[in-house]
Parts: sequence; C-alpha cells; structure tokens
Amino acid sequence: MVVAGRAKRRGEQHFGRPVKVAALATHVPPRVMNNTDFEKLVDTTDEWIRQRTGVVERHVVEPGVGTSALAVPAAKQAIAQAGLTPDDIDLIVVGTTTPDTVFPSTACLIQHQIGASNAWGFDLGAACSGFTYALTTAAELVSTGSHRHALAIGADVMSSILDYEDRATCVLFGDGAGAVVVSPAADDEPAIIDFAHEIDGSGAPALRMPAGGSLRPASHETVNQRLHFVQQDGQAVFKFAVRKTEECCRRILAQNAIGVDRLDLFVSHQANKRIIMSAAARLGLDEKKVVINIDRYGNTTGATIPLALSDALADGRLKKGDLVLLVSVGAGFTVGSVLLRWAF
Ligand code: UT7
Repeated sequence: MVVAGRAKRRGEQHFGRPVKVAALATHVPPRVMNNTDFEKLVDTTDEWIRQRTGVVERHVVEPGVGTSALAVPAAKQAIAQAGLTPDDIDLIVVGTTTPDTVFPSTACLIQHQIGASNAWGFDLGAACSGFTYALTTAAELVSTGSHRHALAIGADVMSSILDYEDRATCVLFGDGAGAVVVSPAADDEPAIIDFAHEIDGSGAPALRMPAGGSLRPASHETVNQRLHFVQQDGQAVFKFAVRKTEECCRRILAQNAIGVDRLDLFVSHQANKRIIMSAAARLGLDEKKVVINIDRYGNTTGATIPLALSDALADGRLKKGDLVLLVSVGAGFTVGSVLLRWAF
C-alpha cells in the first residue's frame, strides 16, 4: 500500500487503502531511426553511440504527431486490460515534457479522445521522473478512497525538441508512451509499497530547454539561437544521476527495512546504459535483475519505465508478486523511486 512506508516514518496510524498497478500498456511510433541514420546527420558513429550510451535504435514520430497521439492507444489498451471502461477512470495524470501544446493540457486531450467522461486530470512536469511522479500522485489519490481508478501516463515526443545539429543530444532520445491503471488492491494482493522523491533545483541549468516559456517566449531571436531545443551538460547530469540513483534506492529500501538482495527486478529510467550499470554496481545488485532496453528505444523521458516494465513482462522476467524497484533521475533535477509488488 502506498502509505505504508510514510506511516512507518512518521509513526502514524496507516490511513490509506492498498493500491496496485492493475494494468500496463505502451505505444511507440512505427518509424525507427538507427545509429547509422545519425551518421548522415551529425559527426558521429554507431560505435560511439553504442559504447557511450547503449542506444542502438529509437522510435521517432512522423512530423505532426504529438504526445497525445502516442498516449491514447496506450491508455485505451491499459483500461481494457484492467477489465474496465473509460467511464471507470476518475483521474488522468500525464507526466510529460513535450505536451501537445502549452495549454490545454495533454491530459484533457487524452480524456476527450478515450472518452473518460468521469475523469479530471492534469499534466505533471518532472522530465524523466514524469512517470514515477505520475504513478505516485495517482496511487496516493486512489489510496485515500476519493478516486476509484486512475490512469498514470508517461509520454513524450522528444524528437519535437531535439537539435538535429547537436550530436551530443540528438542521438540520445526517442519517442514513446506508457500508461498504467492504478486501482484499489485487496489486502492479500500485491500492492504499491512506498515512494521516495526529491527535487534539487540547483541542477536546473544542467539540462533544460531555455526558451518557449514565460521567461523567454518564442521570438525570431530565440529560434535563430536554437533555444527551443534540449541543452545538456552531459557529464554533470551523468555524475548526478549515478549518485542520486544509488542514494534514492538506498533511502527507499532503508525506509522499508528491505535489503537490496530481496529485490526481484530493478527498473531504472533509461538515459544511459552506463549510468544504470554504475548505479546497480554501487548498490550491489545482481546484473540479472537489471532491466536494460535503451538499446531499442533510446531515452523516451516519461515513457522509459513503462516501456522497460512492458519488455520485462513480455520476456517473463517480471511476474506476479515480484518485488520491483523503479527509479528515475531527470531535469530539474528530479529524483524518484517507487517500491512495489507486481500485481499481475
Ligand atoms: O534523461 C535525462 C538525463 N540525461 C542523462 O542522464 C544523460 C547523462 N549524460 C550522458 O549520458 C553522457 O554524458 C553523454 C552520453 C551525453 C555524453 O557522454 P560522455 O562520455 O559524458 O561524453 P562527453 O560529453 O564527455 O564528450 C566526450 C567527447 C567530446 O569530444 P571531445 O571534446 O573529447 O573531442 C564530445 O564532443 O565525445 C564527443 N561527443 C560525441 N562524439 C561522437 C559527444 N557526442 C558525440 C556523438 N558522437 N554523438
């Protein structure tokens, strides 16, 4: 249950009901760009990209396809898989850095397109922690009893904000979406156990899109200066991500008095294979428990964790009752971890 760890920390009475991830579905656009395609765009090589990041290929939308178009099929499939209808959904939380438009929110567009006539919802800006934060928000609200079922979505069209003249960033990312249904769990069912999140705004300059917000609205100057694209201090983000992935995992495990050896699966945000494997080694995790699928999708920001869970389910590495640790580090900086028992 989502508040168990929190209740323990505060020494309070547990007041929420247990909640679970009841269904999961993902969607990626059909078009695939491999590393060789990037050799034609920028001064890079397949070998450099593979060795330094782990990416081999990524899915990329055709021009004119927005984030909601990827999220809608994932959301519809997750609802059906949970045995529900769109009317059963009370809340839609969308973790995205690339909403279709600044407003209205992508949550509204998804709500309309899936016909979730009883839902309210909103977008949540947490960059690569978009899914862990959306899942926690949905789980907490279902746990209170005020909501029956919620959709937590992580979805991004990173190709819409990439500078295809900057080899240091354009090779890293891909497009995709993942949706889970969060529902009440019976007392004896596997459930979400706890979360541990933190933000550190001192890292804001290290990874950002400088223009297009209220501080620097779009102008000819911002376009000419290429300020509507992802800019990153790769090494600063790399070091922070390795350190914080380890710290955040240790924190949530300690909160719940669980040893790292008891984990069945470690599902990290997929930003760089070297970040994930370094953090896993620091934690003393068995490599067999680490999910890596950055090779096929690149960094899809809000969608990496659902895509990794989906792959682990498909290849039989994730099973009902497994103890799973999700962890993400992203722009902000945002840091998030969720500990859960897999429910199906
Ligand atoms: O999910 C959001 C969070 N983002 C991340 O977690 C990303 C974190 N950072 C990283 O994953 C890595 O820092 C990168 C993959 C972005 C870069 O890898 P790196 O090993 O840190 O490389 P670097 O930035 O230190 O650059 C090393 C060299 C440079 O050349 P010089 O100055 O040594 O001549 C770069 O210009 O590699 C060069 N380089 C490339 N070379 C070929 C940078 N990008 C490329 C490229 N192809 N695509």
